[in-house]
Parts: sequence; structure tokens; C-alpha cells
Amino acid sequence: MYLIETQRLGLRNWLESDIHVFAEMNKDPKVMEFFPKILTFEETRKWVEKIRDNIAKGEFGLWAVEIKQTCEFIGFAGLSVPKFQADFTPCIEIGWRFGYKHWGKGYAQEAACECLNFGFNKLNIKEIVSFTSAINMRSINVMKRIGMQYVKEFEHPNIERGSNLCKHVLYIKKNS
Ligand SMILES: CC(C)(COP(=O)(O)OP(=O)(O)OC[C@H]1O[C@@H](n2cnc3c(N)ncnc32)[C@H](O)[C@@H]1OP(=O)(O)O)[C@@H](O)C(=O)NCCC(=O)NCCS
Repeated sequence: MYLIETQRLGLRNWLESDIHVFAEMNKDPKVMEFFPKILTFEETRKWVEKIRDNIAKGEFGLWAVEIKQTCEFIGFAGLSVPKFQADFTPCIEIGWRFGYKHWGKGYAQEAACECLNFGFNKLNIKEIVSFTSAINMRSINVMKRIGMQYVKEFEHPNIERGSNLCKHVLYIKKNS
């Protein structure tokens, strides 16, 4: 049933029932603190439908994550291709987002670690990057805990200059 499994978590394609839970997450100011804006229900639905179609075609993606013991959907982790242009693109990015009540339990690092393994060992990807706003310490800590190396700071081209979210940090892990 799962595309990727960890000790506590299962990563799978998205179900219709995930959408309303994910939409609540995308409206939560704590979860969206380091994003330019929260998302409406319709924006969330469109986002999920696009990702779900890509995963169904057999491509890698931002997989829905559930707790195996309870089948509760808690967020996403996975691989994607950033759409903006920078001196490090094209590239493959690892990303994550979890509901606030599921923070502080090690779920993000557990899921992300297995996504890296999947990318390196099953998909034979040479290197995977991650980036986030330079003030998103929780996300930066996940990058460090899964063994990614700091590369540099950069200004995100899609975020308004002068916004405190514009300055980003880039991390990388190479397939060894
Ligand atoms: C980024 C995000 C996933 C990090 O969540 P997190 O809970 O800090 O990270 P983890 O799930 O890896 O959990 C690590 C914490 O759980 C604790 N923990 C508890 N049980 C644990 C276990 N069994 N194993 C590992 N860690 C455990 C760790 O000590 C650590 O605690 P700390 O924050 O006090 O250091 C979360 O903040 C989030 O979803 N943010 C919004 C989305 C976002 O910003 N995404 C990135 C944008 S690019």
C-alpha cells in the first residue's frame, strides 16, 4: 500500500480525504509562518490534484504521509523540481510540511531520511537540495539532522525583496 515506509510512517499517493485536513494546515498561521501567504481551500485542492496526478503517472513527488498505526494523514514529505530559475536549478528538491500538532515527534526527519534514500538508491539521483527561508529554523534543523550540508544564502526570486522571507538558505546532499 505504501510507496515508502519508515518505522512509524507510510508515504503514499494522496487520498480525497486528505484534502480537507491539508487545507486546514494550509490555513494555519503557525504552519504557514515562513510562506508568503496562507492557501484557500481551492488553492489546496488544485495543488493536491496536480501532485496526485504526477505521482499516479509513476513520477516522484511530494507524498502524503500517514501514521501507520492509526492511518492518520499528518502532512507531506518528498521530492519535487523547483520551478523558479537560479544558479543551482534545474535540480531536485526535498521538502516537507506537517500539521502543527505533529511537530516535535521526529516525523519530518524520519520521513525525509527515507525520501533521500529512495531518491538516491531507487531513482539514482546524484544530488538533492533543500532550501527555506533563512529564519525557518525548524526546517533548517531537519536539513541538518538528515545530513544535508549548508551551501549558501540566496534571495528567492519569487519573494518580494525586502520581505523577511526573501533571504533563503540552500542545503545539499550528494549521492555517495
Ligand atoms: C519543518 C517542520 C516539518 C519541522 O518539524 P519538527 O517537528 O521540528 O521536526 P521533526 O518532525 O523532525 O521533529 C524533531 C523534533 O522532535 C523531537 N523528537 C521527539 N521524538 C522524536 C523521535 N522519536 N525521533 C526524533 N526526534 C524526536 C526532536 O527532539 C526535535 O525536537 P526539537 O524541535 O525540540 O529539537 C515543521 O516545522 C513544519 O511542518 N513547518 C511548516 C512547513 C515548513 O516550514 N516547511 C519547510 C518550508 S521549505
